Amino acid sequence: MLHQLHDLSEDGASRAVIASLIGAREPGHMLPAGLYTRADVFEADLDIIFHQHWMAVAVEADVPEAGDVYAVDIGRSSIVIVRDEEETVRAFHNVCSHRGSRLVQAGRSIVGKLVCPYHQWAYELTGDLFSAPHMGQDFNKGLHHLKPVALRNVGGILYACLSDTPPADIDELDRVMAPRLAAYDLANTRIAYETDIVENGNWKLVIENNRECYHCEANHPELCVSYFATDFGFDPADLSPSEKAEAEALADRYARQTAAWEEAGLPSAAVEHTVGVATNFRTQRLIIAGAGESQTPDARAACQIPLGTVGKGTGDTHLWGINSWNHMMGDHAVVITMFPLGPDKTLVRTKWLVHKDAVEGVDYDLETLTSVWLATNQQDADLVALAQQGVQSAGFRPGPYSRFTEKQLDDFITWYVERMSAHGYGR
Ligand code: FES
Ligand code: FE
Repeated sequence: MLHQLHDLSEDGASRAVIASLIGAREPGHMLPAGLYTRADVFEADLDIIFHQHWMAVAVEADVPEAGDVYAVDIGRSSIVIVRDEEETVRAFHNVCSHRGSRLVQAGRSIVGKLVCPYHQWAYELTGDLFSAPHMGQDFNKGLHHLKPVALRNVGGILYACLSDTPPADIDELDRVMAPRLAAYDLANTRIAYETDIVENGNWKLVIENNRECYHCEANHPELCVSYFATDFGFDPADLSPSEKAEAEALADRYARQTAAWEEAGLPSAAVEHTVGVATNFRTQRLIIAGAGESQTPDARAACQIPLGTVGKGTGDTHLWGINSWNHMMGDHAVVITMFPLGPDKTLVRTKWLVHKDAVEGVDYDLETLTSVWLATNQQDADLVALAQQGVQSAGFRPGPYSRFTEKQLDDFITWYVERMSAHGYGR
């Protein structure tokens, strides 16, 4: 009892510290250092952000056929996504109904039934308990179904929420994104390549780094072939007259191109659902610079078989979410998800999707397809590690965001503060 009281008061003290750190965040600035470094903050982030919000976890191509199983770890928890015999894609907590053993290791497998490695309880892919040896004739298998996880398929991208009361505004993501993603027909893609890298930084630094291109010109020579220097904001006072003329011409081109795409039935205008919401996201169809087709070394399509019905020269539909960033192009899609592993460790998972009939070496060259984002991810990982080293240093003070180029990460951190406050970590 005494021990329990001690735990409770420790928990209360930790909660008060986190709440005071959150309350100390100055608008327009980074978070106080402890929110990027403390073990108790990491645990609170898992409980609040990762266990109570919708996370991008997979794509339909992870489970293309009946019997396919794909397990994804989210913090301390894990979910198992299956395609059952009726082709329904489902998700369950990756926890056996007997004594709780993890059922399936992270990654892909093909099964007839989900069989627990511990005492061999076997589950149908619908989650129904099929057999439980030595539990007696009176044992009611019907009471021991696998616990379902809320799952939404938004145009081929699978979102899951571990909470029993998932945020309802996933409907808004679906409303905006399903029509945008329809033309890419992601259900009929396959994963041409996949990488997992562990970045040595807090997950919020990974997202902060992702929400701006302030760092792109100096750090991403490969990606910048397909991006415009002024695509992600600029201070007009810093541009030379010729740069200013270029930026104005690009803004004009965006207005005309966006209208033309929309008229052709391709939703393109920016939609921001970033603060004052539970399920944050931003999307826009971006014009690809240079040859204008894809994020490859020469900005031309890497894959000769187009995705769905979009065709070449239809830009890059970018989609940012709580734990993901995605680029859908005419010839391939890059889907990136991230999952926190520790206060200063984050898993970044990248999948390159091509049309399911595309054959490596015939329809696409793997290096051409993957080289830009392989390089970009490594460059970003190096930057995130530098940022983590900084936030855990004695001299760190939360610096200001540029209102011209870092609005999106200001919005993200504002969202984080809002969500933590809404769940009991407010002032
Ligand atoms: Fe799964 Fe016992 S814990 S069968
Ligand atoms: Fe970057």
